[in-house]
Amino acid sequence: MLADMSDIDAETLAPSYPMPRTCPLDPAADLGRLRAAQPVSRVRLDFDGSVVWLITRYEDAKTVLADPRFSSDFATPGFPARLTAQPPGPGTFIRMDPPDHTRLRRALIPELVRARVKELEPVIAGHVEQLTDRLLAGPTPTDLVEEFALPLPSQVITDLLGVPYQDREFFHQTTKVMGDVHVDGQTRMKVRNDLRAYLDELIAGKEADLPDDLLGRMSRRRAEAGLSREEVVGIATLLMVAGYETVANQIAVGTVALLAEPGRWAALAADPAKLPAAVEELVRHQTVTDYGARRAATEDVEVAGQLIRKGEGVLVSLAAANRDESVFPDPDRLDLDREFVDHLSFGFGLHQCVGQVLARAQLMAAWSTLLRRIPGLRLAVPVDDVPFRNDMFVYGVHALPVEW
Ligand code: HEM
Repeated sequence: MLADMSDIDAETLAPSYPMPRTCPLDPAADLGRLRAAQPVSRVRLDFDGSVVWLITRYEDAKTVLADPRFSSDFATPGFPARLTAQPPGPGTFIRMDPPDHTRLRRALIPELVRARVKELEPVIAGHVEQLTDRLLAGPTPTDLVEEFALPLPSQVITDLLGVPYQDREFFHQTTKVMGDVHVDGQTRMKVRNDLRAYLDELIAGKEADLPDDLLGRMSRRRAEAGLSREEVVGIATLLMVAGYETVANQIAVGTVALLAEPGRWAALAADPAKLPAAVEELVRHQTVTDYGARRAATEDVEVAGQLIRKGEGVLVSLAAANRDESVFPDPDRLDLDREFVDHLSFGFGLHQCVGQVLARAQLMAAWSTLLRRIPGLRLAVPVDDVPFRNDMFVYGVHALPVEW
């Protein structure tokens, strides 16, 4: 009885999530306080009012993400967001468990492995050079998001899938609505279905001659991989949603972090050998998947001494785990020389980001070229005046005024 009462109190008093940031380049300070005092605690999700368990420590985050008793299936009782969002649809394997998750992910993997991304590197480099040419030829100040950070991954994902780049405004608007935490479930479903319908038509058009792009190749392999046509459409939709806003914001907010401290950009420009480690540290420090990874318990599980019951929702704060001082000394410092940077920004376990090699290739290409060709890059406004994305599932900036 007493336990039930305290449960009710804990639910009523659960702080709302996401918690407000005090510094735009650091996760909410409340996350740090929870990590120290109550690393598995209850929070109330702003966007649907449901109460879920929030995980804030690095080791607990890995434990939960590696444990098959925590489901990614949207239909599992307690899965966060069931109140407002609609079922994600066939092929959306980020919201599935094995065996369907395994079958769909396996069908996609050959398209995103290191060897395949290596082949794409010259194409990525070409886009980066061209975008930088245009930046340098244009006026300053300019918006680095509009002119560089967004067009790069948008060109890469459209090249990869074989989607016409001229339709970018349509899918840009779609992903913007889908990524907005304040958008209601019905609107989110409508734009998601519009994107599905668009990709469905595109894939139908490819079926006659099966071109040598990701969608053409997956359509060709469909029978052998055991995929339905609907599932190919779903995978394409997932890639469009997961595969470019993340990269765009990582480039943009990482650049803010580099420019926020005087001299850091120029120092890195003078020592490009440091870039690979710097990229990892930037991805750790600026965790764009700031909202966290969602799961639901399919059995009673104890995490760090706290019982999580079957049917309860769980949110793993990757941003909080990436600032865990027991793993990353002086975690709030952006330390480009940091040695251990096995961060959780790309997740962990079965659902670890399948696009991470492609993401890293774009981040490397973007920063190495900007540092080499614009070593005098600087913010055109104070950091506090940069419009940060506090209203989106993917953190970052809406715009980034820069000059040189
Ligand atoms: C900086 C860029 C990126 C970040 C920070 C990022 C982050 C993540 C994270 C944290 C997850 C795991 C979600 C979970 O466990 O619930 C994930 C999964 C996924 N990401 Fe990424 N991602 C990025 C870029 C990309 C790109 C470029 C693509 C595709 C081309 C992509 C496609 C996917 C897909 C399909 C999944 C689902 C994997 C699965 O469920 O097995 N991501 N990503």
